[in-house]
Amino acid sequence: MTTRPATPEAIAQAAAILRAGGLVAFPTETVYGLGADATNGLAVAGLYAAKGRPSFNPLIVHVPEAAAAAAIATMTPLGKTLAAVFWPGPLTLVLARRPNRIIADLATAGLDTIAVRVPAHPIAQALLRAADLPIAAPSANRSGRVSPTTAAHVAADLADHVQMILDGGPTKVGLESTVVDVTGTDPVILRLGAVTVEDIARITGKPARIAAADDNAPASPGMLTRHYAPAARLRLNAHDVSAGEALLAFGPNAPQHAGATLNLSLTGDLAEAAANLFAALRDLDASGATAIVVMPIPSHGLGAAINDRLIRAARAA
Ligand code: TXA
Ligand code: MG
Repeated sequence: MTTRPATPEAIAQAAAILRAGGLVAFPTETVYGLGADATNGLAVAGLYAAKGRPSFNPLIVHVPEAAAAAAIATMTPLGKTLAAVFWPGPLTLVLARRPNRIIADLATAGLDTIAVRVPAHPIAQALLRAADLPIAAPSANRSGRVSPTTAAHVAADLADHVQMILDGGPTKVGLESTVVDVTGTDPVILRLGAVTVEDIARITGKPARIAAADDNAPASPGMLTRHYAPAARLRLNAHDVSAGEALLAFGPNAPQHAGATLNLSLTGDLAEAAANLFAALRDLDASGATAIVVMPIPSHGLGAAINDRLIRAARAA
């Protein structure tokens, strides 16, 4: 494995690795992805093996523009409305899969729907265009770990399992894309993420329903209740912290604490908090504290997705 700054030469090499069926980790504006050729069943199988991911979990297929999405999925009016506003960007649309067999069955876990995203990150865009293939890319972490927001996070989880890591610095958004089922007339949010529920309701002019978490429904496995997990115990909505615990603070009124402390955003800015969340969980976990104590975080806007990740991380294994 090599971590390389994402120069044009490195991107060209990464594209060649993908075309040959190998695995490349690359930055998107949300989190780092672990990419494989979505048309190559063997490459996708290698990707599941690298992640240690249950194979019923379908993957997001990344393409450089909406026209490429239309080649593998059947666009709907609702999908068009959202794509026009949020693509390229941190939104994943679940659509009916075209019956043309371009995408390997394994990438969609045999479902007749497909999750498609057009990322905005210039390195992701350059890689997708150079590879000239739809790229299946889950977050580049081992299954059950928090998503990586730096190349170093990827290396810590997957160093022995990936041919190249393209380093594009820390990701901007820090939370995964919002996954929305747009096969019907009303949007159904399958995973809270970087695009808010309020945004989706406003743009579509429809109520945006949030699918219930269900550990037994492989149609929306992003809702598996335990999915983003540090090793330390998490205590949420806390106002006090004891010695031996680590503090994940938010906003200007954090309690005084002598032990490991990180503040997601001193000014109480939710976008900044989202960008810092996963790195902060990794760092506080590495401090060896018995528990990570998390201050209350408002649940509007991006706060809904932040709290969603924290609640999952807090569930006992
Ligand atoms: O921000 C992101 O979305 C990152 C970057 C790399 O693009 N990718 C990512 O992929 O988070 P992953 O594999 O970790 O999450 C895929 C999510 C899961 O919640 C999965 O259940 C859902 O998308 N999904 C994929 N295909 C689906 C389908 N056909 N129907 C319903 N949900 C689907
Ligand atoms: Mg993931």
